[in-house]
Amino acid sequence: MNHPIAATAHQRRLFAETLTRLAAKVADDERTIGVEFPQLTAPDGSWVTLPASLSAGYRGEAWSHGNWFCGFWVGLLCASWLQTEDRKYLGWMRERMHLVAQRAGDPNTHDIGFIFDSSAIPAFHVTGDSWYADLALQAAGRLRARIVNTQAGSYLASWGPMSDARARCSSAIDTMANLPLLYWASRHSGDGSFALAADAHAQMTAKGFIRPDLSTYHAVEYDIATGERVRGYTFQGFADESAWSRGQGWAIYGYVVSARETGKLEYLELAEKLAGYYVRRLDGRKIPPYDFDATGEDAKILDTAAGAVVASALIELGRIHPDASAARRWSTVGCEMLENLCREAFASEDSHRGALKHSCYSRPHREGVDSATMFGDFFFTEALCRVVQPGRLRPETSALA
Ligand code: GLY
Repeated sequence: MNHPIAATAHQRRLFAETLTRLAAKVADDERTIGVEFPQLTAPDGSWVTLPASLSAGYRGEAWSHGNWFCGFWVGLLCASWLQTEDRKYLGWMRERMHLVAQRAGDPNTHDIGFIFDSSAIPAFHVTGDSWYADLALQAAGRLRARIVNTQAGSYLASWGPMSDARARCSSAIDTMANLPLLYWASRHSGDGSFALAADAHAQMTAKGFIRPDLSTYHAVEYDIATGERVRGYTFQGFADESAWSRGQGWAIYGYVVSARETGKLEYLELAEKLAGYYVRRLDGRKIPPYDFDATGEDAKILDTAAGAVVASALIELGRIHPDASAARRWSTVGCEMLENLCREAFASEDSHRGALKHSCYSRPHREGVDSATMFGDFFFTEALCRVVQPGRLRPETSALA
């Protein structure tokens, strides 16, 4: 299916203007950030930057996710080129990709999906240069190698060296949004084992992560022999049993893409149920709280990144849904969410870098609470492009009839 996006004329104008303003901010930043990459904004609105070379790994007992933000910046450069047709963005995109490329062999993290799906794949789609595709394929091979086979099914371990027992049993809901790299690699190379790994992970996550009320665990520890869930818990949410809004967003996003790529209606239905839960808990608010179950002062903390991930997923759900009226409904909801982000959270002041204010990277770690975050900015940009530049940032595929 390929339904038109149900955006109103005024939404289309707003989204195009926002993308143009974003491209201007990205160009200003390119001239000042040097060789590092934006991660999130500090309380004064300036970017905190990290080198692309910062890989994931244990430092003693403590796990560091490394720089999983760097690819998103390349995606923003790519979208800025599409919006402005100013070739300077293509030059920057290539230079930045040379810096990101060193991560294509990182064996320690599922985030390799985020890094290369947001950078090399759009860059290849836009330029046709096979260098980008080769990098994405190399990264997809690393992600596929994270598969763990159990009696109950197979999943991709989310973080840590595969030689480490702590790593093999770990799975995070975020991994669902890393699957697009595998589906792309399968289509591009003709090697179905990439898609098999992604599909297996989606099946296992449906069994291990989704609670009876349709909220999701952030992380699950599996028994690596039986595949049973040993425990469900959180790193970035309010509590182990709470509903972390971005985690729900990653799940919705991952099942929309899994439905689109496999053509399986069970994934489509699951994406709709998870999205139904999200919309119910949003309860008319324009921006989601970082956790739907947070209490006290924490209940006031917002996460625009969760809103951006869900908006992008729902606009895509509206494009691919086999039923025309459901398609229109999801597309309308997604566009309304995107409009709310543009109106309530776009950082129009020069002193605040990034696109979306009021994202929350991690409340428990007190990191990037009420900031712009690179992943929030990327999924916001992707959602804008789905409406303003349809099919130009990414291929518009669908296996759903
Ligand atoms: N690790 C992905 C996230 O912060 O949502």
